[in-house]
Amino acid sequence: MRIGVIGTGHVGLITCVSLAAIGHEVVGGDNDPEKIALLERGVAPFYEPELQPMLEQQLKEGRLTFTASPAEAVKDAPVVFICVGTPPRVTGDANLVAVEQAARSVASHIADRAVVVEKSTVPSGTAQRLKRTLQRGRPQPEEHLQVVSNPEFLREGKAVHDSMHPERILVGGEAEWAFEAMREVYKPLTDQGYPLIETSIPTAELSKHASNAFLAMKISFANALARVCEKAGADVVEVADAIGADARIGRAFLNAGMGYGGSCFPKDVQAFEHLSRRLGYDFRLLQEVARINAEAIDSTLEKVRDALWNLEGKTVALLGLAFKPGTDDVREAPALTLGAKLLAEGATVTGYDPLAAANAKDVLPELHIAPDPLSAAAGADCVVICTEWPEIRDLDAGELKEVMAYPVVVDGRNAFDSGTMADHGFLYYPTGRPPLL
Ligand code: UGA
Repeated sequence: MRIGVIGTGHVGLITCVSLAAIGHEVVGGDNDPEKIALLERGVAPFYEPELQPMLEQQLKEGRLTFTASPAEAVKDAPVVFICVGTPPRVTGDANLVAVEQAARSVASHIADRAVVVEKSTVPSGTAQRLKRTLQRGRPQPEEHLQVVSNPEFLREGKAVHDSMHPERILVGGEAEWAFEAMREVYKPLTDQGYPLIETSIPTAELSKHASNAFLAMKISFANALARVCEKAGADVVEVADAIGADARIGRAFLNAGMGYGGSCFPKDVQAFEHLSRRLGYDFRLLQEVARINAEAIDSTLEKVRDALWNLEGKTVALLGLAFKPGTDDVREAPALTLGAKLLAEGATVTGYDPLAAANAKDVLPELHIAPDPLSAAAGADCVVICTEWPEIRDLDAGELKEVMAYPVVVDGRNAFDSGTMADHGFLYYPTGRPPLL
């Protein structure tokens, strides 16, 4: 099938390569000519496991091409995916300008009979607006132009895997012929047994926000639990194991720590809360989810203060700067929020991250960057574990103690073993577990 994809950012490019990999003829369009030039040379503009070789292969096999012209991207395509960004406005609402622009730029070039797929994360009701915008550009009867919602459920660092092995494919639509087109798009995946769920458009749009909000809520539940465990002398990891053994609860996403970051959860929780309010429902639970998430960083900062007393003149090493392991993304990374607070209180802050150091330095120029964890910890009064990369988890406690000015570790991700830290005589502050003081 000939497929056009508008927007070649994280979601758009993964959509391009995976649709090509399942056999479609895909044209990726983007209004950034430099990005297109890079993609045409087979260079992925961001890191995502498996992406680079897959991009090269699909270009070589000729199923994937790129263009800076929206007209060319959608020409003769019976299905067009809109994958442009929907960043948050200062109000917390999603900014949908790029979605509208994408629709306007393709409206008059779209094929005689086409399905336009809304893939970007958007508030409920956007598909209707999208349809109106397309209709204004080129009035078409319902049997010739349909909009469907097909939200993505890709995790950064596992996006290619999630795209090729989806737990579910969700399509919200109105007309049977549009559903039929989407069944054809995903047939290579449904033939392998991956489920396709068909719903109305508002249901699909809302499911995306509900999914991210629920996962964020699980994390905040674990973090609130951590605060209580710290006061009660209980162990939040063991509590999570105990409650997570109940299949109705599940163990996933119950890891207490410095909270969730990234480009999705913080933005989507806020956008969903705003949308609900606009629709007339005060979803206060979501405000609490966000508040508990911010509190998780303050709780980590409090442990650093407890260990070091005044921060002026002290050196703190942050191990892990990305918002989670496996990515170079530092958007809303708890490590950087903590770093900014430590700097504001007068500490010298050194950071290490295997992939995200350069991005972190862009956001926080006062941050000193070290090439490896031990160099970051060298001479530090306190080490804070912010992102649980394997190379940080596997650090040798003896070597770590050797290089530090004073052996204090605040473990914001429960990456270390208390017994080992005790054996080496660390002052150790885990999250939601009994500290070694
Ligand atoms: C998230 C969702 O998991 C995807 O399903 C969704 O498609 C995506 O957002 C999106 O909307 O595009 P992602 O932001 O890549 O994916 O990251 P996650 O792996 O979900 O982690 C989010 C944050 O939660 C990270 O900062 C992570 O450290 C934190 N986390 C996760 C915890 O603090 N505790 C946990 O138990 C799990």
